[in-house]
Amino acid sequence: MAKLNALNIKQADHKLAMLTAYDFQFARLLDESDVDIVLVGDSLGNVALGYKNTIPVTMEEMEVHVRAVARGVKRALTVADMPFGSFQADPITAVANAIRLVKAGADAVKIEGAAHLSAVRKIIEAGIPVMGHLGFTPQSVKQLGYKVQGKERRSAAKILADARALEKAGCFAVVLEMVPEGLAAKTARSLKVPVIGIGAGKKVDGQVLVTSDLIGLYENPPSFVKKRADVAGAVRRAVGEFIKEVGK
Ligand code: KIV
Repeated sequence: MAKLNALNIKQADHKLAMLTAYDFQFARLLDESDVDIVLVGDSLGNVALGYKNTIPVTMEEMEVHVRAVARGVKRALTVADMPFGSFQADPITAVANAIRLVKAGADAVKIEGAAHLSAVRKIIEAGIPVMGHLGFTPQSVKQLGYKVQGKERRSAAKILADARALEKAGCFAVVLEMVPEGLAAKTARSLKVPVIGIGAGKKVDGQVLVTSDLIGLYENPPSFVKKRADVAGAVRRAVGEFIKEVGK
């Protein structure tokens, strides 16, 4: 299949599969496994850098990991998260930071929330495709708490209105994280661009997960994740056997 780009993604004839990678080896494995989109998420902060949440992640850290991932991806669309603080100040700074991520190898950027539509529009005007992200947005964990969003009628209406606003601003796809299935389904039906869910049920246009949750590298994944492997266990066993053989 030709490289899925941000312009033909909405014409994909299948549900979209998106997974995170932060380094060359995982990027290569995901690309060879036929995922549609490799996301260099700012979950990098929790997963690879050991931070408590995504808030401390810097542009410099994102650039290093986007470069590593881009070296491993030949086919999939590579999307990079704009980290907290990289797009809120003003649209000009947001465009400059999006350009840094594209120069590092990203095909597109992802922005959390719908509070900075002028930044979204300016980045798109600069020729960089933007993916939106609504529902539970980890960069706002201190404000939202770690919980399902859009359970009440008002908050559900706000998420739907924000999704429409992001589409109108030109986003090529929207991630919906931790919202009720009915709201995710309604949003997917109302948008022309794909809605990619995480903990949002099956009635959407694709799914995204943090790869280490999926493969059991991180051992306490969120409850909506079906753990498909026990990589942490495999590593512990291999290291244990090695230590025994060394004769330590
Ligand atoms: O940073 C990330 O990995 C994400 C996904 C959870 C969608 O934003």
